[in-house]
Amino acid sequence: MSDRLEPAPNDLRAFWMPFTANRQFKKQPRMFAAAKDMHYTTTEGRKVLDGTSGLWCCNAGHGRPLITEAIQKQAAELDYAPAFQIGHPKAFELANRLVDLAPDGMDHVFFTNSGSESVDTALKIALTYHRVNGQGERTRLIGRERGYHGVNFGGISVGGISGNRKMFGSMLNGVDHMPHTHFPEQNAFTRGVPEHGGDIADELEKICALHDPSTIAAVIVEPVAGSTGVLIPPTGYLQRLRKICDKHGIILIFDEVITGFGRLGENFGADYFGVTPDLMTTAKGLTNGVIPMGAVFVKKEIHDAFMNGPEHLIEFFHGYTYSGNPMACAAALGTLDTYAEEGLLTRAADMASYWEDALHDLKDCPNVIDIRNVGLIGAIELSPVEGEPAKRGFEAFVKAFDMGCLIRITADTIALSPPLIIEKNHIDELMGCLRKVLNEVA
Ligand SMILES: Cc1ncc(COP(=O)(O)O)c(C=O)c1O
Repeated sequence: MSDRLEPAPNDLRAFWMPFTANRQFKKQPRMFAAAKDMHYTTTEGRKVLDGTSGLWCCNAGHGRPLITEAIQKQAAELDYAPAFQIGHPKAFELANRLVDLAPDGMDHVFFTNSGSESVDTALKIALTYHRVNGQGERTRLIGRERGYHGVNFGGISVGGISGNRKMFGSMLNGVDHMPHTHFPEQNAFTRGVPEHGGDIADELEKICALHDPSTIAAVIVEPVAGSTGVLIPPTGYLQRLRKICDKHGIILIFDEVITGFGRLGENFGADYFGVTPDLMTTAKGLTNGVIPMGAVFVKKEIHDAFMNGPEHLIEFFHGYTYSGNPMACAAALGTLDTYAEEGLLTRAADMASYWEDALHDLKDCPNVIDIRNVGLIGAIELSPVEGEPAKRGFEAFVKAFDMGCLIRITADTIALSPPLIIEKNHIDELMGCLRKVLNEVA
């Protein structure tokens, strides 16, 4: 007898779902069949308000016509072009549009297919840059505790979430981690950027002293750490990192996979915090999540250092079959058009104070030990059930889904990142739903 599964439309066994409690899900599936603007529709026809932009990616909401039309047209016109040694016009058009949005001096873009690939690409660019620049001894990479940089081996090596690392062996050599920036005793219930803790950036100096800065290639941080449960950098923290990196010739990488494309009310987190990195990784909001795509933004000096040697030789031995894929480029151009037409890259700034007030109103709900916010990002941290971490958070997630709201959880922290088209009535609906949820999981 073969073990082959019976093909049946409702058979959930074959698909091993990513980052999912598969057994729980398959007993009690949560399925979306459609989406428009701020709402999903489940396979049972129930509406669910999107409190998380899918997975922090559908910044313009769902079913947006310019994106749909761009993809349809592209599929009929040019479905695929080889990514190596051949181009197509939309990849160049998109790169130019993107550098126009980027902080000054970030003049080049390398295309990938995801945030994880953007991170590994940025780490490779940093290592190669030092090598072509005559400093090949700079090989160490510095991440941060509680950081999330995707799931590829480079990203989990510099990442700092133990659950994402512990099963996967020794990972990259020569990686160290700075301390995280979470100081709940001093900063709990801060509205916006917390005051306390910016000086923790100086720990980077200690890491430099330990290894000698001449061995360090790059430092990578998320401007706002998302996946670990939303940690907002304390005042002055990113500025201090920038200063230390400059002092020692270390490349500073901002992982802007969630902060890019308007989440904080400016184009990028770099703009919001007023600190320009040397490399910037993006994905998600680049195509509104519609087609997988990532982009690494690169400072001119770094790019130009590669452009040496005979002209017929490849300058950077890296790339993906789908780097700059025509369908993804069309989706990204449709997304940028949507952002521009509706002013979405700055809309979070207009909505931020209503969002902040509504979120912090939940302070009196049971088990809430912290609330954090910046731009259109919010987090509600719940005290864990004794001896069963993550249980209360998971229960809140399932209940919210049943009550018509999509939220994210990391252990016992609820994370919110709604589409940037959100209106005040949606914010009221989301917070009203969460109030009920928090009262029920008590
Ligand atoms: C900061 C950051 N970097 C990288 C990634 C990985 O992106 P992807 O899942 O597209 O590989 C994520 C995903 O949430 C992220 O938040």
